[in-house]
Amino acid sequence: MGPSGLEAVGSVAVRTFATHQNMTTAHQSQSMDGHHVNAMAGDQRGTDPARFAAYDDLPDGHFYDPDAEYEPDPEYAATLAPDAARQRRERIGPTGRPLPYFPIPGPLTDHGPAKIIAMCNQKGGVGKTTSTINLGAALAEYGRRVLLVDFDPQGALSVGLGVNPMELDLTVYNLLMERGMSADEVLLKTAVPNMDLLPSNIDLSAAEVQLVSEVARESTLQRALKPLMADYDYIVIDCQPSLGLLTVNALTAAHKVIVPLECEFFALRGVALLTETIEKVQERLNPELELDGILATMYDSRTVHSREVLARVVEAFDDHVYHTVIGRTVRFPETTVAGEPITTYASNSVGAAAYRQLAREVLARCHAE
Ligand SMILES: Nc1ncnc2c1ncn2[C@@H]1O[C@H](COP(=O)(O)OP(=O)(O)OP(=O)(O)O)[C@@H](O)[C@H]1O
Ligand SMILES: [Mg+2]
Repeated sequence: MGPSGLEAVGSVAVRTFATHQNMTTAHQSQSMDGHHVNAMAGDQRGTDPARFAAYDDLPDGHFYDPDAEYEPDPEYAATLAPDAARQRRERIGPTGRPLPYFPIPGPLTDHGPAKIIAMCNQKGGVGKTTSTINLGAALAEYGRRVLLVDFDPQGALSVGLGVNPMELDLTVYNLLMERGMSADEVLLKTAVPNMDLLPSNIDLSAAEVQLVSEVARESTLQRALKPLMADYDYIVIDCQPSLGLLTVNALTAAHKVIVPLECEFFALRGVALLTETIEKVQERLNPELELDGILATMYDSRTVHSREVLARVVEAFDDHVYHTVIGRTVRFPETTVAGEPITTYASNSVGAAAYRQLAREVLARCHAE
């Protein structure tokens, strides 16, 4: 789909939005305040579901029609163009800040040692797995050697790359728990050049229990990844939606954390607990660990709600919020079915452009250090 294709899809989006806007304005003033009180309060307030029951009928932010094959609007799409001239005309990005230019990275002559990134949020369904696959694939497209680690017993990352977790004999579980197991025995090549996978399946859930009695249980993954560091430029770990021992292992192994946040009502709920966990791991286990950024996902630039939530997130986390924002599009669920990243499944889509820009932004942050 070329630029003209985008416009066509964009106009569909505008049509559906007009109807949507009429439905939502009546509820808006009532929804925003209550929500944001809750959203900013961290973990405690807003846990009483009755208090927010009225929001359940709000289409705003929950509006998602999988049949309307819309892509985010052209204005948002334009902010993703990797085009220096375009961005030199001062452009305000979706986060409300001037959008810097993220250059297309040059080729590498040698590889490693790897930077390890943990994709982490204990809230479920915020886009961790989607971001791991697509950031990884975009980095690989830019010539970086990438290893993705499925660190969720659900095996969604493996499924998203076309692997059937049930059929695997060896997974990251074996690498963690069996001494002398070499990573080469577990590693799978993906269909994306430059990108490999350490797959997982339900076996990994046993590790959470078995690790408890291990010596240096929090650094088991770190030890397992050590021999692989020289072969890759980036290792991205897809965490499960919990702050248990597996996630602590991921944080202990990592140099950086990316926290995906869905642009919806309760986006910031639980983030206080997450940042506290990151700080504890920093203090006690891994002084190198840093929060690289907060990634806003499932952003719908056509709803006031999404824009408001994003503004709150920027207010709370400031420069930690990536300039790149991932729009909501049905293309992502489709890629899971297809078992491949969006960068190959729909290479010219806005979703692919967004993850390529994220890759450039992540690389720019790394090089700025
Ligand atoms: N930007 C997006 N637009 C629309 N749908 C999305 C987007 N990102 C992810 N999704 C869909 O939302 C669902 C949850 O995404 P994903 O599996 O990446 O989240 P997760 O944080 O890994 O979830 P879990 O906590 O269960 O591991 C999936 O069906 C995915 O296809
Ligand atoms: Mg997941």
